[in-house]
Amino acid sequence: MNISTDLQRSSADGAATSLRRLAEARGLPVGAAVNMAALGGDDPRYAETLRAEFNACVAENAFKPSEVWIGPREYDFSVTDRLADFAAENGMLLRGHTLVWHQQTPRWLSSESGRGVPAEELSGLLRKYIHTMVARYKGRIAQWDVVNEAIHDPDPEGATPGLREESVWHRALGPDYLAQAFRWAHEADPDARLYYNDYEIEDLGPKSDAVYTLLRDLLAQGVPLHGIGFQGHLLNGWRVTEAHRANVRRFTELGLEWAVTEVDIRMRLDGAPPTPEQLADQAEGYEELTRLCVTDPQCRALIFWGFTDRYSWIPGFRKGWGASLPMDEEYLPKPAYHAVCKALTGK
Ligand code: G3I
Repeated sequence: MNISTDLQRSSADGAATSLRRLAEARGLPVGAAVNMAALGGDDPRYAETLRAEFNACVAENAFKPSEVWIGPREYDFSVTDRLADFAAENGMLLRGHTLVWHQQTPRWLSSESGRGVPAEELSGLLRKYIHTMVARYKGRIAQWDVVNEAIHDPDPEGATPGLREESVWHRALGPDYLAQAFRWAHEADPDARLYYNDYEIEDLGPKSDAVYTLLRDLLAQGVPLHGIGFQGHLLNGWRVTEAHRANVRRFTELGLEWAVTEVDIRMRLDGAPPTPEQLADQAEGYEELTRLCVTDPQCRALIFWGFTDRYSWIPGFRKGWGASLPMDEEYLPKPAYHAVCKALTGK
């Protein structure tokens, strides 16, 4: 079976096509987070589907400090190089996720010796890590999530949340760690587009207000910040509203580009397969989100957080929920897949 041919889907008019061809016709990077174990695994469908259906990709975990930054001045690029090579061989835009995050921090940092690293020294180590990582993929990573999820979730009273001061990076470098990270990344690759990435900031509200203020202030300081990543971890039933449009607009009015960086639309299953109604509901949400992106030239990427339900993070982290991606566990397109294709064709 020629997997890549057989994987081509018939679009609404019956022509053999793929989601990738529609994305390329639109000039829009449309991609997926990659599970590197699956990419190198013994099921050829994973790699074949990824290269046939998408023109962009990002590592789900491989590019995180916990996986690469294995010692204070020691790095392991074996897995990241494998994805960078795959993306280059298959003409795919590559996103870098992520340089600075309060989670998945370097494992050595929580060791006895790591905990004792003075703040001044840790600042120098972070600078060296960012310079080394970004320089290694200079010209091959188009967009970096330089800082991920720096703002707290809103409290129940809905007060505007602040920076996650518990972050090891905030504790070591103070609130200036964000500006420093962006400056160091820009020094290493002046052509890379540098993003701030976060979740539950798609709508107007206290958290997106806090992110807006944060990014506006960084820009006012002359920080090389180019884009905002709306992760898009959504619940079935989600739809685009005027508030979403107003929220995106206020960031583009700051001069920022934007991307949907991690979209999945999960549904409550509780062990049962999704119903046709749930699948139709999900397709509507994906269609509206895709349309929001393709109709805005400032939207520079649409990235699913995986592409087959077989490898989604959701079931392991959101018990009872799942079926969040455009393809099912056998790589077959769901209504969501066809809805994304329809939005990409502009129909
Ligand atoms: O690699 C180790 C493996 O050696 C070990 O045997 C295994 C069991 O402990 O754990 C493996 O690491 C896991 C890693 O995924 C790779 O599979 C971590 O435990 C697990 O916590 C990690 O989960 C990832 C999660 O981020 C961490 O917070 C998910 O796969 C990943 O989808 C998720 O992605 C995040 C984005 O980066 C940021 N936005 C939210 C999104 C969803 O949480």
